[in-house]
Amino acid sequence: MASRPVLRMGDPRLLQRAEPITNFGSRELNALLSDMRDTMHELDGVGLAAPQIGVSLRVVIFEVNANPRYPDAQSVPQTVLINPVLTPISDAMDEDWEGCLSVPGMRGLVPRYTKLRYQGRDEKGGLIDRTVSGFHARVVQHECDHLEGILYPMRIRDMSNFGFSDVLFPNQNVQDE
Ligand code: NI
Repeated sequence: MASRPVLRMGDPRLLQRAEPITNFGSRELNALLSDMRDTMHELDGVGLAAPQIGVSLRVVIFEVNANPRYPDAQSVPQTVLINPVLTPISDAMDEDWEGCLSVPGMRGLVPRYTKLRYQGRDEKGGLIDRTVSGFHARVVQHECDHLEGILYPMRIRDMSNFGFSDVLFPNQNVQDE
């Protein structure tokens, strides 16, 4: 198991729609998840989607526990989410800054649904069904977008709110997500 290179924006593999998982608990799936965890932890990310390491499958992972990059962010439980289905609870959206390991060095102001329900499976095929809001909801939407071939810059409404992290936030030690 090992950390793997993260594809960067411009790679056509990031624009594909990923395929569902049909075989849970397989050695291949466990190996993929191990590589995803190693990659996310090495890069100090809050989430990673399988297509970001060149695997076009509907698998995302995320976790937030006192990440130094997000001192104010609520913690999010360590989650493996497979074949996710997202359902917004209302039309309410809010905007906040996002980054992405596939768009290194950049930040953008991205609208996301404030509150949503997400359903899917864990690595053993167990059901996941959560209703979340705020940063947790934002992370889920960002990661699941990768499964549709959508990168966060494609959702920015006003491109004047897109730029280099160290220019936008000169007084903060902002890294990539
Ligand atoms: Ni991302």
